Amino acid sequence: MAGYDRNFTDELRTRLSIVDVVGRRVPLVKKGQNYWGCCPFHNEKTPSFSVNEEKGFYHCFGCGEHGDIISFTMKSNNIGFVEAIKELANQAGIKMPEYKPKSAEQVAREENYFQIVEQATQIYQKKLFEPEGQEALNYIHKRGFSDEMIKKYRLGYAPKNNLIANKFATLKQDKLLSTGLCRRGDYGMYDFFRDKLMFPIFNAHGQVVAFSGRSLDGSEPKYINTADTELFHKRKTIFGLNFARDAIHRANRSIVVEGQIDAIQMQSNGFPETVAPLGTALTEDHIAILCKSNRNIIFCFDGDNAGQKAAARACDIVMPFLRDNSDVRFAFVTGGKDPDEILKTSGVDAMRKIIDESTPLVDFLWEITNKNFLVSTPGGRTQAEKFLKQKTDKISDVALRAEYEQEYNSRKFNSWHKWKKSTQKNINIELPEVDSITQKTLIFITDKYPELAERYAEFLASLNINFDGSVPEMNINATDAEKYIVSLKLQKYLEKLNTEKKEIMAKLLAGEDVEEKMNFINSEINRAKEKLDTLISM
Ligand code: UTP
Ligand code: MN
Repeated sequence: MAGYDRNFTDELRTRLSIVDVVGRRVPLVKKGQNYWGCCPFHNEKTPSFSVNEEKGFYHCFGCGEHGDIISFTMKSNNIGFVEAIKELANQAGIKMPEYKPKSAEQVAREENYFQIVEQATQIYQKKLFEPEGQEALNYIHKRGFSDEMIKKYRLGYAPKNNLIANKFATLKQDKLLSTGLCRRGDYGMYDFFRDKLMFPIFNAHGQVVAFSGRSLDGSEPKYINTADTELFHKRKTIFGLNFARDAIHRANRSIVVEGQIDAIQMQSNGFPETVAPLGTALTEDHIAILCKSNRNIIFCFDGDNAGQKAAARACDIVMPFLRDNSDVRFAFVTGGKDPDEILKTSGVDAMRKIIDESTPLVDFLWEITNKNFLVSTPGGRTQAEKFLKQKTDKISDVALRAEYEQEYNSRKFNSWHKWKKSTQKNINIELPEVDSITQKTLIFITDKYPELAERYAEFLASLNINFDGSVPEMNINATDAEKYIVSLKLQKYLEKLNTEKKEIMAKLLAGEDVEEKMNFINSEINRAKEKLDTLISM
């Protein structure tokens, strides 16, 4: 196994969820942080085979088998390494690269790379506290960075001259060029980062692989990043993940913000589970990497148009990753601010409020659909339906997709169609208390139509009203009278369901597993609503 192109096997491990890979063979149930099932490698009736999504490993406490997606595929199919890789590449929908064992030369190259970049990091760090870096240091202090934060994130300063090119002048140029720190010009090697505030970019192992440099004199672009190298791929790198990994695990969610300063300030101010993409829009790889820890993501965007667009894009990318236990939300920071500014000007609580009030994906998608199309016209509704379908079709979990479709069907019915019926008939389907008019009506009905009183005795009794008052004069026929009682009954039932739903929601927020109950309540609510609608339109 050693020697195989690590980039590719890493890519497979990134792309594929071990729970999905193992789950194709072994039914798994989530208990605590792990998934459990009966071990496919020895005979057993009670599950002792555990799968850890985040670490990407399985372990059997019965027979001691353990490994990752590759060894699982090899063992469970009784195939060799290369075949297993092929099978997994197939599952991930990516092309197999040529079989390229890592050469000693490549290993040496990588070592060199890390060494150079690490030395550069130290040089930049030192410069920040020398007179040349004074302005950069003042700036970063002004931005609310403590010395502790500067140390933790290893911020530095790249001076105006060609410091790195000079320091490494005796090194073979190719080695230096491969790190992206220097470039070759007409007059020799020069530094890519000059007069920049330097943010190191770490890989999963905490090694510095690249840098993001912020301009200090207001010149554009505001940020420049190391161009992709053999060991740094912008589209697959998440800023701050090395620091956030444990917190993402503990909080059982990640928060994704747009900028790296935002990520650092969030991490340092009560949201250690925050990360940011790097100078690019979100990619599928970013989401795949985050989903390895858990599928609960809060995207935090600017409230402006660009932010809304970015959120819609994120929504698109995240759809195939949704599972029945995902909780994906969208938070918007308004007033032209970003999380860094919110934290600074309004404080942690204001930021927490924004996060807490984030919109679940199912609602966000519904909102943008209603915003983007003229749903008051048949044509607009058709476009909107197509749009929604195109989105829900991306959900790969079949049962979940069906659930989303059903949810939107009921929303379409309730807000695109039903309002017409109810306004036409002018029937208020909001829930009345048993007020004095209802009470009088019921007294009249039970007096005039004793057979109805008999049929709905139990329900009428449960209302706890006194039927003994004087009988008012009214004009209601038997059919309408029965409709009146049934709709009242349904409304009461709905009221009860909604109260129950609130209680369950509270439990859900407290982390209890009440999903089944919730699903039941929701389906009952829909059923009751449908009945009520039919009744009203009769
Ligand atoms: P923003 O323009 O929102 O900047 O870019 P910011 O994060 O608020 O920056 P500060 O607070 O003024 O320092 C968001 C992110 O987009 C990338 C960076 O990663 C930045 O954090 N970006 C932005 C670039 O890569 N290049 C740019 O020129 C600008
Ligand atoms: Mn900012």
